[in-house]
Amino acid sequence: MDYVIRVGAEAVISRVNWNGLDTVSKHRVPKPYRIAELDKRVREQRTLHEVRVMVALKRAGISCPAVILLDRNEATIYMQYIHGVELRRWLERGDIEEVKEVARDLGRIVGRMHRSKIAHGDLTTSNILIDESKKLYFVDFGLSMFTSELEDFAVDVHLLDRSLESVHYKLRELFMRNFFIGYAEILGKDFTKNLVSKIREIRMRGRYVEERRR
Ligand SMILES: Nc1ncnc2c1ncn2[C@@H]1O[C@H](COP(=O)(O)OP(=O)(O)O)[C@@H](O)[C@H]1O
Ligand SMILES: [Mg+2]
Repeated sequence: MDYVIRVGAEAVISRVNWNGLDTVSKHRVPKPYRIAELDKRVREQRTLHEVRVMVALKRAGISCPAVILLDRNEATIYMQYIHGVELRRWLERGDIEEVKEVARDLGRIVGRMHRSKIAHGDLTTSNILIDESKKLYFVDFGLSMFTSELEDFAVDVHLLDRSLESVHYKLRELFMRNFFIGYAEILGKDFTKNLVSKIREIRMRGRYVEERRR
């Protein structure tokens, strides 16, 4: 029952049964356009980085797949398979009360992650999984950072908001409003206000860049 889940730009994600364990392998594939030696080092470093972040999240009590094995030479992480769906897909169901509850919960979890000085780096609804009991898990830590910069935290929330573009605007608004309620429970109203201003700044910058392109 082994199969490929996704072929990404950088890695191939597969579901593999190993010793009866339901696992996911994330293999960073060689890039032919990079010098072989450098390529190997880059893949190894990114793989190690991703595992370091997963370990840090574990310490902080934030849910992500458990790391089962690290094959450094093959730039492959074997991790726990999460029985769930991407938040992006789950939101298509759109039950208002459930969405509010999950958004608040996500706000609290992201708040705790930021309080632990970790920014996800690619916080989109494809990189958040949700299981039957509505428990949330983060995946994909290739771009994550250990940081204290408000800007890095704001980018996380900005990306999350942007990734909600495909859902109905009313649902998106509801989601973000509840997200911020949960977030503020952890990091306080003042911090959250500063974060919101920073997000606005990031958005303006984005618009400015787009206008210049035209
Ligand atoms: N541990 C896991 N359990 C279940 N699904 C996973 C797991 N890890 C990744 N996935 C699925 O594979 C997709 C791609 O994995 P991800 O780490 O985000 O790679 P990429 O860097 O290519 O985006 C995720 O969006 C998620 O749907
Ligand atoms: Mg991803």
